[in-house]
Amino acid sequence: MPSDLSPIDKAKFAAAKRATQYVEDGMRVGLGTGSTAAWLVRCLGELVSEEGLKITGVPTSARTAALARDVGIPVVSLDEARWLDVTIDGADEYDGNLNLIKGGGGALLQEKIVATASDQMVVIADISKQVEALGAFPLPIEVIPFGWQTTKALIEETLIGMDVLGRDVTLRLNGDAAYVTDEGNHILDLHLNRIGNPRQLSLVLNQIPGVVENGLFIDICDAVVIGYGDGRVEVRDINEGTVEETRFDFLETDNLFSDIAE
Ligand code: A5P
Repeated sequence: MPSDLSPIDKAKFAAAKRATQYVEDGMRVGLGTGSTAAWLVRCLGELVSEEGLKITGVPTSARTAALARDVGIPVVSLDEARWLDVTIDGADEYDGNLNLIKGGGGALLQEKIVATASDQMVVIADISKQVEALGAFPLPIEVIPFGWQTTKALIEETLIGMDVLGRDVTLRLNGDAAYVTDEGNHILDLHLNRIGNPRQLSLVLNQIPGVVENGLFIDICDAVVIGYGDGRVEVRDINEGTVEETRFDFLETDNLFSDIAE
C-alpha cells in the first residue's frame, strides 16, 4: 500500500477489496460510479488480468465504462445483460435501514436502474457516509431539460407539505452551464438537511412531471461494506441481520495497487 494514500482512500480501497468477494466466475456485475466504485473497478480488473476471473461488467456511466475497459473488464449494456447477479456501487449517504442517497456524481438514473435489475446490491463506503437520518447530503433529482424551471417550482411547492428541514433547490452546474447527465438531463439538488420519511418523499417526487428519477434508493441495497483507514472492514447485511468484521493487514506492505490513487 503506498504510504501517500490518505486514510479515506485506504478506507475506500479496503471496502472495494472486500466487496470483490461478492463476485464469482461467470457473474454479470453492475459497476457503480464515483471514487469508491472506481477502486472496485480497478480491483476487479486486477482479478481479471492476474487471476483469470471471468465476469461481464455493466457500467452505470460513461466514465465507469471507460475505466472498466481500461482495466480489462469485458463490458456490455444492461439491455444485453438483462439481469445481473450483483451490483457494487458507492453512496453519498446510507442509514440504518440501508436506504441511500446517491447521485452526487450525477449518475443516479443508470445507477438505480442497474441496481434494481440485480439479485443483490452491495454498497461500498467509508464510515463518513453513515447517517442516522438521510438528508444532510443534498438529494439529487434528475429532471428533463424541457421546462426544468417549472419542474423546480413544482418540487419546491411539493416540499412545503413534506417532512423535511430545508427546502432550497438548486440547479447543478458544470462551470457556468447546467450539468448534463449521460442521459442528456439536468440535476436539481434538494438541500433538505433531514428527510423524515424517505420512502414517502421518493414516491411523491417521482409523481412530478419532468422528474425522471430521484436519488433515494429505498429497499434496494442488501449490504454495506464499510472500510476504515486502518484496513478494517465491516460488512452489514440487512437481509441476514449480520455484522461481520475483517481486516486487511496486507494494506501496509502490499503495493499491487500503487497506481490506483485518484
Ligand atoms: C454517483 O452518481 C454517486 O451515486 C456515487 O455513487 C456517490 O456519489 C458516491 O461517490 P464517492 O464514492 O465518490 O463518494
